[in-house]
Amino acid sequence: MLIHSAAQVLTLKGGPQRGKDLGDLGIIENGAVLLREEKITAVGSTAELQDAFPDEPDVDAAGCVVMPGLVDPHTHLIWGGDRAAEFETRLEGKSYLDILAAGGGIISTVRATRTASIESLIAQTRPRLLRMFAHGTTTAEAKTGYGLQTATELRLLKALLALDDESPLELAVTFLGAHAIAPEYKDNPQEYVKLICETMLPLVQLWWGVHAPHRKNLPFVDVFCENNAFNLEQSKEILEAAKALGFPLKIHADEFENLGGASLAVELEAVSADHLVKTSDEDIKNLGNSDTVAVALPCTPFGLGECEYTPAKKLLEANAILALATDCNPGTAWTESMQFSMALACRNMGLTPAQAIAASTINAAHAIRRADRIGSLEPGKQADLLILSVPEYRHLGYRFGTNLVKQVIKRGRVYSVDVGYYRTA
Ligand code: NIG
Ligand code: FE
Repeated sequence: MLIHSAAQVLTLKGGPQRGKDLGDLGIIENGAVLLREEKITAVGSTAELQDAFPDEPDVDAAGCVVMPGLVDPHTHLIWGGDRAAEFETRLEGKSYLDILAAGGGIISTVRATRTASIESLIAQTRPRLLRMFAHGTTTAEAKTGYGLQTATELRLLKALLALDDESPLELAVTFLGAHAIAPEYKDNPQEYVKLICETMLPLVQLWWGVHAPHRKNLPFVDVFCENNAFNLEQSKEILEAAKALGFPLKIHADEFENLGGASLAVELEAVSADHLVKTSDEDIKNLGNSDTVAVALPCTPFGLGECEYTPAKKLLEANAILALATDCNPGTAWTESMQFSMALACRNMGLTPAQAIAASTINAAHAIRRADRIGSLEPGKQADLLILSVPEYRHLGYRFGTNLVKQVIKRGRVYSVDVGYYRTA
């Protein structure tokens, strides 16, 4: 299949973009992309590829921008229950961490998730996944973390694998048993840390071998390093135990307070450190000297009505690898739209549209260790592309609150996007 006559093809070729190199879109004006089955086989100008492949079935992308599918490297997209009332409580002046300390927040979602069947969890999550896909996300990371007990955490893992199998959107799974102190261990958090390290992690490793034998890698292991969740020492204990079992690591660091989580991520060679709002200059320097991806989640301060965002310019000056994500979750940021995350990053983190696009494609793919097969349009990569109803790339970032995606192409299959849903073309 030849997709041709695109106003611009954004190739993003050449691998993850570090520091001030962020924003190299590799634009081909009047471009074309040739797909064979699930892969990209050629990228070039329309004239070139039409000449070389005259008999190819074609898709006319006239006037549109063609780019890699968006990658969302941080979501909590599987949960039970509802938190709309908590949103109102926060508007009335209660803080997020106070609500959590009082047994609400994450813990209220945990209660609803524990009592939900796997069928119900899948049914509640499916529309979120479809909305993501309709908004151009072709691969997303998805965390457990609303079980906080072995059986429910495993049920969440199982549900995520089932959703990955049924959906065109691909999921990269993360085990976040360390999302909050389980309510049973409120007065003895160290016991819960012990349960994670000595029971849950070895069990997840074993479980994964049985239930996901066709997947090469273990899931990521993540920790919420924060006051009222896991302190630095506990986070280190959990991540070290995970590392010893061969899990790749992630961390929630500096969302509300600086506890040193970002430098811990660097020390343990974590794949990414996420949030990074209260990150110190020292931590930023360490990130810049490492391969740990800095994942910014601008929908979270926005969702909380706060005005402090990830210091992206400092991170780029320090030479860090910056990525964007939604953080889609019921507490702080319920949005499925990476387009909205980009719009916020341009306004509140000072990124240019080109930087926001690179942070949401090739760098985001790198944040889930998939940059070898997704995140750019290059021969040999998976055919995950978007056709956007926009005349040039800067409309991403510039526009917000509406969906600019016209068609999503996932593994070579074309999906036309209807409002809020999709169907096979
Ligand atoms: O990334 N910070 C921890 N986790 C989520 C919020 C989860 C929730 O409130 O349910 C976050 O913001
Ligand atoms: Fe998160």
